[in-house]
Amino acid sequence: MLLKNLRPANDYDRFATETLEPWDLLFISRIRQIARDMQPGSLADIGTATGVVPVRLGVDPSMAGWRFIGVDLDPTMLEEGMPRILELGLAERIDMQVGDALDLPFADNSLTMAVGRATLHHLPDKAKSLTEMFRVIEAGGVALVHDMRRDAPQTLLDRFTAMRAEANYPPSHVEEKITLDEAHALVEEAGLTPYATIYSPSVGLGALGFEILLKKPALV
Ligand SMILES: C[S@@+](CC[C@H](N)C(=O)[O-])C[C@H]1O[C@@H](n2cnc3c(N)ncnc32)[C@H](O)[C@@H]1O
Repeated sequence: MLLKNLRPANDYDRFATETLEPWDLLFISRIRQIARDMQPGSLADIGTATGVVPVRLGVDPSMAGWRFIGVDLDPTMLEEGMPRILELGLAERIDMQVGDALDLPFADNSLTMAVGRATLHHLPDKAKSLTEMFRVIEAGGVALVHDMRRDAPQTLLDRFTAMRAEANYPPSHVEEKITLDEAHALVEEAGLTPYATIYSPSVGLGALGFEILLKKPALV
């Protein structure tokens, strides 16, 4: 199965591991920063593709004690990522599971963290994907969504296109992405404004995208 505007799993994995590293590291360091203030628990990466994010987290000593679930609608993506998980001895800590971001295969309040990078723009009902992530995190839990901005500075969009071309990868479908204002409207539509912080850095590669951070209040 090949979802709209996605490359085959092996080509995506090559691009994700060879070219996306700087952007990966921004996302990983953000997760590490948030996790520092939490007890280790379970973290699901929604739209995980070949599991690059859970693998990076799984080999990170600061994430010891966490277990990870990579969820993707496309089983060929999950299959492509499995050999790396096995080779690194991470099979006990990373579970790869077919699932839909719009109907997550988790009970209410069952995860410590839910994250998703570059998945939001693929989803037909983006507000539903946010409410799903919020539904599955426990009280005191966090959901973190990163995606690219359609209204990112043109110089950065050009730089990203050049990085992709160097890796023999086609340009990003910028028209599918949302703007920062649309991210605010989305959170509002999902009814999650009281729990959300939306942020986009003004400099560096991170300015290509935005983050939506959702915090479920702890039980008192
Ligand atoms: C651009 S890739 C991003 C992969 C990974 N998160 C990363 O940052 O490298 C988007 C992924 O979302 C997955 N996807 C698309 N629609 C989905 C859905 N409804 N539920 C779960 N995954 C989905 C695709 O199969 C693909 O693997």
